[in-house]
Amino acid sequence: MRSIKDVEFKDKRVLMRVDFNVPMDENGGITDDTRIVAALPTIKYIMEQGARLILMSHLGRPNGKADPKYSLKGVAAHLERLLNKKVLMAPDCIGDKVKDMIDQLASGEVLMLENVRYYPGEEKNDPEFSRQLAQLGDIFVNDAFGTAHRAHSSTAGIADYLPAYAGFLLENEVNMLRKVLEHPECPRLAILGGSKVKDKLGLIRNLLNKLDILLVAGGIGSTFLAARGIKVGQSLCEAELLPECKNLLDIAEKKNKHIYMPVDVVVASEISPDASYKIVDVDEIPDDMMIVDIGPKTIQFYGIVIARAHTVIWNGPVGVYEFEQFAVGTEAIAHAIAASQAVSVIGGGDSAAAIQRLSLDKDITHISTGGGATLEFLEGMELPGVKSCEN
Ligand code: 3PG
Repeated sequence: MRSIKDVEFKDKRVLMRVDFNVPMDENGGITDDTRIVAALPTIKYIMEQGARLILMSHLGRPNGKADPKYSLKGVAAHLERLLNKKVLMAPDCIGDKVKDMIDQLASGEVLMLENVRYYPGEEKNDPEFSRQLAQLGDIFVNDAFGTAHRAHSSTAGIADYLPAYAGFLLENEVNMLRKVLEHPECPRLAILGGSKVKDKLGLIRNLLNKLDILLVAGGIGSTFLAARGIKVGQSLCEAELLPECKNLLDIAEKKNKHIYMPVDVVVASEISPDASYKIVDVDEIPDDMMIVDIGPKTIQFYGIVIARAHTVIWNGPVGVYEFEQFAVGTEAIAHAIAASQAVSVIGGGDSAAAIQRLSLDKDITHISTGGGATLEFLEGMELPGVKSCEN
C-alpha cells in the first residue's frame, strides 16, 4: 500500500476518509469512541505535517437524504475534545459553501465534512459524486478500515481522481489481519452475532470455506433458529432470509462443517433496560416475547467449543449488550475467548467494546475497528477501500 510517510503534506488539502460510524445513545451521546481514537495517530501526523485536513465519514444509514439524526456535528465536537484543537464543522460534504470553508482553512487546521451518505451518489459510487468530493482536496488518505469493504465514492471512487494513500490505521489493520491469515490453525471458529443479518449471511457462504465451526447468536441466531422451524416469537428475523439460511445449513452439512445455534435463550417482552425476562429452551419461546440474550446452557456449550478452537473470530454481540441484564452472554463469550489459547480476532464495535469494558484487550491477538470489513478480509475478499491505496 502507498504509505502517507512518503507524502509531502505541507499546505496541501488532504481529504481523509475516516470511519466515525460510532454507536450513540438516544440523546446523540457517543457510547464508544474507539474508532475516533484509532484514527488519531493519522489525523495528528497529517496536521503536524502542515496539511489542511478535511475529514469525511458516514454515520449510520440515512438512505441518501440529509437527516439531522445522522449529523456528524456531535462527532466533530468529540474529536475537538480529543485533539484539544478546534475542529470546524461544514454544513455539507460537497458544494460551494464547503469549498469556501476549505479556502479559509489554514495549514494545520482541520474541517469535518457532513455525512457523505446524505447523498445517494455515495453508496452508488457515482463518478460524478466522487468527482465533486475529489474537487475539495489535492490528496486522498483512506484510514476508514471499518468501511473498506464498501465500494463507495468516499472509500474507492474518489481514488480515480486523486492520488490515494493508506493511513496508519488502515495499514496496521491490514498487516495484522494478513498475519492471522498466514497460518490459521484448526479448528477455526467464528462467532457471529449482532443485527446486520443480511450482510452477514452473504459472508457465511465464503466463510464456510475458511472455517470449521460457526456459532450463531443475536439476530443472526434467531434467523437460523427460524430456518430450522423453531418459533422465535417477536425476535429479529426476516422471513425473506430464511431460504438462504436453510441453504447455508445444507452447504455446511455437505462440507462437514458445523453451524451451532443457541439451545436456550433469555426472552423479554420488550427491549428496555428494566424489562422483565426469563430463560427458556429455544422450543419454548413465547409468541409475544423476543430473544435478548443466549441462555446459560448455550453459554456453557459455546464456551467449550471456544476453548477447543485454535483460531477464533468474533463479530457481533450475542445479546442486547447495551443493557446490563442482557449483556451476560456477550461478556461470557468475551471471557471464553480471552481465556482460550487461540489466535483471536475481534471485529465490530460492540464485541470490541465488551472486550475493552472487561479489560481483556491484552488476551486478544487483534481487536479490529472493522466488523463486516474484518470478516470480508478474513474470507479472502479484496476490499475496495484497501485496493484504492495499493500500487
Ligand atoms: C460498520 O460499522 O460496519 C461500518 O461503518 C460500515 O457501515 P455500513 O454497514 O452501514 O456500511
